[in-house]
Amino acid sequence: MTPPPKQASPVKTRTPSPTNDAGAAGLTSEDQETQTISSEIEPDESISDEGYAESTSTSYVSSIASDVRRGIEENGRLYAAYGKHKPWVPVDDAEMDRNDFQHCKFTLLLNNELHLAPIKQGPHKILDLGTGSGIWAIDMGDKHPSAEIIGVDTAAVQPNILPPNVQFEIDDIESDWLYRESSFDFIHGRELVLSIRNWPRLVQQSFRALKPGGYFELSGSLPVISSDDGTHIPNSAFEEMAQVYFDMGDRIGASGKAPLSWKTQLEEAGFENVVEKVLKIPTNPWPKDPRMKKIGAFELSHFRDGISNIFARGYTQILGGDPLYFEILMARAKAEVSNRRMHTYLLFYVVYGQRPLEAQV
Ligand SMILES: C[S@@+](CC[C@H](N)C(=O)[O-])C[C@H]1O[C@@H](n2cnc3c(N)ncnc32)[C@H](O)[C@@H]1O
Repeated sequence: MTPPPKQASPVKTRTPSPTNDAGAAGLTSEDQETQTISSEIEPDESISDEGYAESTSTSYVSSIASDVRRGIEENGRLYAAYGKHKPWVPVDDAEMDRNDFQHCKFTLLLNNELHLAPIKQGPHKILDLGTGSGIWAIDMGDKHPSAEIIGVDTAAVQPNILPPNVQFEIDDIESDWLYRESSFDFIHGRELVLSIRNWPRLVQQSFRALKPGGYFELSGSLPVISSDDGTHIPNSAFEEMAQVYFDMGDRIGASGKAPLSWKTQLEEAGFENVVEKVLKIPTNPWPKDPRMKKIGAFELSHFRDGISNIFARGYTQILGGDPLYFEILMARAKAEVSNRRMHTYLLFYVVYGQRPLEAQV
């Protein structure tokens, strides 16, 4: 592995903050065998189409001060310059906003927790894979002052004003790891789907770097749109967008359906007590429950304001698609997804496991 710089270079100052009809969007019945999907969500019948529908991400996320970052500029967006593969997700202010906004959504989805793995009290060393804006690592540092938290990413986009127990490293997590064997209490990776080509290898490297008894947790979204009451429109523009996502993943060799394999991969690597939880993310604020309604508002805002960033380059450069067709498809999907009579949701997978106390590597 190329020796990484010890610390992210001066980067920025930031003020943080399926009728289960999943099959319709590409899941086979085999895919769904291991799913334990969270219970049905009650729709809020009293809502009108005002209010949340007009929310934007800026209502929820503090602005991020612009500063110097390394990277490659292309079509007005900034992309990471480090790593084996050409990145298709930008690493600029807009993307860091999206990252922090998503962090709020996922934390709410986990009932204000940063992870689901039952890690031990007073952990000493924690690793966050593909840390992005570093917001998860920083929150973990605040929560566990006794622990050293390392966030690693190919892009130097993390803030340089940090809790003393948090540090960032620039490295490619698909290369050979230099971390000592049995050195971490917890290794975490969130929203790395369509980034990682070789999941079994990442799982094995995590197994090796964990202390016996330590936990590994992966989490990520699966954009398979479903509803429990048959209100979702089949063959929608949203479903076509989801197919674009899966096609892009297949083309670059990083499957969009990776979360479906994590449980088996952890078990095959030797992890014990492997748990898979599948949570529902409402696509707009249609649920009655206030927490789920807020998650839906986050998701709608993310889809409307954030998602085109991550699809635009991929659709044209990876799939060779027509930018005009993409614009029209996005506009149709945005209109569909804002319709609160559609009680639709996508899925968020959380899979964790424990390295056995007697593990051999
Ligand atoms: C969608 S962001 C998720 C950020 C963060 N995990 C979170 O949930 O807040 C994906 C991040 O993974 C990073 N990444 C992708 N491939 C990587 C690799 N091979 N090695 C290190 N980081 C990688 C990207 O640069 C990006 O910051």
